[in-house]
Amino acid sequence: MTSTTAPTSADLTALELDDIQAGTLRPRPDPYAGAYLVLRIDDRRDGQELVRRLAEVVSSAADVLDPLAQASLSAAFSFAGLRALGVPQDSLDTFAPEFQQGMAARADKLGDVDRNAPAHWEHPLGSSDVHVVLTLLAPDVARFEATRATARTALDKLPGIGRVWRQDVYSPFDGRNSFGFHDGISQPGIESSGLPGRNPHEALLKPGEFVLGYLNETGDVSPTPQPEVLGRNGSYLVFRKLYTDVAAFRRYLHEQATSPAEEELLAAKLFGRWPSGAPLILAPDHDKPELGADPDRNNAFLYGDDPQGLMCPVSSHARRMNPRDAAVTGEVRLHRLLRRGATYGPPLPEGVLDDDGADRGLLFAAVNANLARQYEFVQAQWANDGKFIGAPDEHDPLIAAHDEHDQFTLPRKPIRRRLRGLPTFVVNRGGEYCFQPGIRALRWLGDPDT
Ligand code: HEM
Repeated sequence: MTSTTAPTSADLTALELDDIQAGTLRPRPDPYAGAYLVLRIDDRRDGQELVRRLAEVVSSAADVLDPLAQASLSAAFSFAGLRALGVPQDSLDTFAPEFQQGMAARADKLGDVDRNAPAHWEHPLGSSDVHVVLTLLAPDVARFEATRATARTALDKLPGIGRVWRQDVYSPFDGRNSFGFHDGISQPGIESSGLPGRNPHEALLKPGEFVLGYLNETGDVSPTPQPEVLGRNGSYLVFRKLYTDVAAFRRYLHEQATSPAEEELLAAKLFGRWPSGAPLILAPDHDKPELGADPDRNNAFLYGDDPQGLMCPVSSHARRMNPRDAAVTGEVRLHRLLRRGATYGPPLPEGVLDDDGADRGLLFAAVNANLARQYEFVQAQWANDGKFIGAPDEHDPLIAAHDEHDQFTLPRKPIRRRLRGLPTFVVNRGGEYCFQPGIRALRWLGDPDT
């Protein structure tokens, strides 16, 4: 489609999978090995040459369902990166204001204060040195190395490109994150993507929730960067390096419980799922690994039959992040995210309660088409706001920064239980808002003067 022809209804609803980057739509392999590379463009010509090369090697979403084609290389750009590439000002002005400002400037809105404040972020995150973010993800080390070689070739003999940051990611044990919980389970289903929805009780979402240039859940098209060739088939990619204090998490549970079984129950109540991934709604009393491992059943539920949170606390992480049919602030379908996060760092050995000083956590990554309505709403309202319906004066027990007054309610009969003095388990070490363009758009970025 060009900007001179009026869009047809197919243009607005049928995803052009071969022009959308794999990193936007393809689920993360499981298990996986990968890396996030941050580059700085010091020389515009080298930057444009890099983008021209990337356009030839990034993976598309066309083979999104092909299990053999699971290694992918994707490229995204910060606002400073687009400027460094020479994107004209009248085009830069058409990007979402939150993207133009960048994540560090949105710190107050996102709750990135105190320990999470940009002043404490890992350099160069939050600085104007973050221009290009390459995401490499593969199902095994051999295919990761092949993808890394492709990225290296794209960077070859380009002295005007600085490699300024790198974070390796991998699934350490059995697809579980640093806290020992299976993740990456629940993802929204998207019309016309070819990917089956993961929850048979939820209708598929309109493509425009995640890819720019298509109809979204409001019946409209989210503001799409111009010219059309640049904006269409792109998405906003949010990435944050989230350090996890696993020792503090274990110690807190140990102090609150009288047995290992109770520790595991309390941990599951905080997450909304058991370590295997089995949801509390379908397994309220104990973990059911066969349920956790069954993709047809482990996400097939709503919360409507549990309005008080007796099975899955209203304030648990997974329920706050996607309340499904529960009554909450906001229309749930307007605040969904495609999560692309990956675990980093060595696991803390089982049973260890003292911190070993290692850096471990989640390289959180999420794709959406509207930063304000999707990612920022979820982070600011559902994670950090105390006025969440059903759990007043509480925050997300896992990802919010807590002070000594923070508590977590476990609804129970005859009497609820309150966990008090929640420590902070997750600290943001920095991140950025990026634009992950379509493949035609990459070619345009390689030569924006044409
Ligand atoms: C270190 C930080 C985090 C950890 C360890 C973590 C872990 C988890 C786990 C174990 C689940 C349940 C399994 C699944 O469905 O994948 C989950 C679900 C989810 N998380 Fe997180 N998460 C973290 C940060 C975040 C952040 C920052 C956001 C968004 C602002 C987020 C959004 C979600 C969403 C949307 C779901 C799916 C809920 C559903 O559809 O049922 N998470 N997370």
